[in-house]
Amino acid sequence: MSRPASNPWNETPAPGETILPAHVYAHQRDWHGYFRALAHLGPRDTLLLALLAFDAEPAPDAPRFAIDLGCGDGRDTAELLRRGWRVLALDASDEGLDRLRRRTDLVHTDRLETRLARFEDLTLPQCDLLVASFSLPFCPPAFFPRLWAQVRASIRPAGRFAGQLFGDQDDWASLPDRTHQTPDQARSLFDGFDFERFQEERRASAVDPANHPKQWHVYHIVARKR
Ligand SMILES: C[S@@+](CC[C@H](N)C(=O)[O-])C[C@H]1O[C@@H](n2cnc3c(N)ncnc32)[C@H](O)[C@@H]1O
Repeated sequence: MSRPASNPWNETPAPGETILPAHVYAHQRDWHGYFRALAHLGPRDTLLLALLAFDAEPAPDAPRFAIDLGCGDGRDTAELLRRGWRVLALDASDEGLDRLRRRTDLVHTDRLETRLARFEDLTLPQCDLLVASFSLPFCPPAFFPRLWAQVRASIRPAGRFAGQLFGDQDDWASLPDRTHQTPDQARSLFDGFDFERFQEERRASAVDPANHPKQWHVYHIVARKR
């Protein structure tokens, strides 16, 4: 389902430099490396599924409002703007927000607000859609309950969550600064929501040239608040 995005950045590796798979950088919270590795990619499938569901509902008079939590370089934000949404894009990475603002595929930039913010202490307004693509697991466990309470309160009735949580069998679950859930824990976070997708993915990524395998355990989630 993903579309390629236009890449405003010259990501050509320097002579002798190898760009590794994105997970190698994400493991270290090396967001510069992560953004370079994935700069060519379009919106996440969970976002596209949520947008399909909204499109099947009566159109509102005013643009719908989304929060892109941990937006990175804005692969989802760009799609939301393209589809006519207002977007608040939040991330703790200056570079991510800068890359987002400098994308060549942004339209309706008057509908975009970017904000430097940390999961640990942010406050969220009410929204129709909260997007958290591969970002929430990077919230340290001590701060996750507060963050999740913010997420739940932010989504208005009939609004949606679209994003990922990571499972307890993922090999990053042993890292002390990550938040992972068992399948039951992940489902129970969505009390009061109806799942439109709850897809549990377990796979091993190929070993890259620098010998970095990864065991993935990911929940791909789209859920509608009652
Ligand atoms: C794996 S990337 C995902 C980026 C983007 N949503 C995507 O789908 O490619 C995780 C993002 O979470 C952000 N992040 C990590 N820890 C954070 C924190 N404590 N507060 C806010 N953002 C954080 C990173 O800066 C990064 O942009």
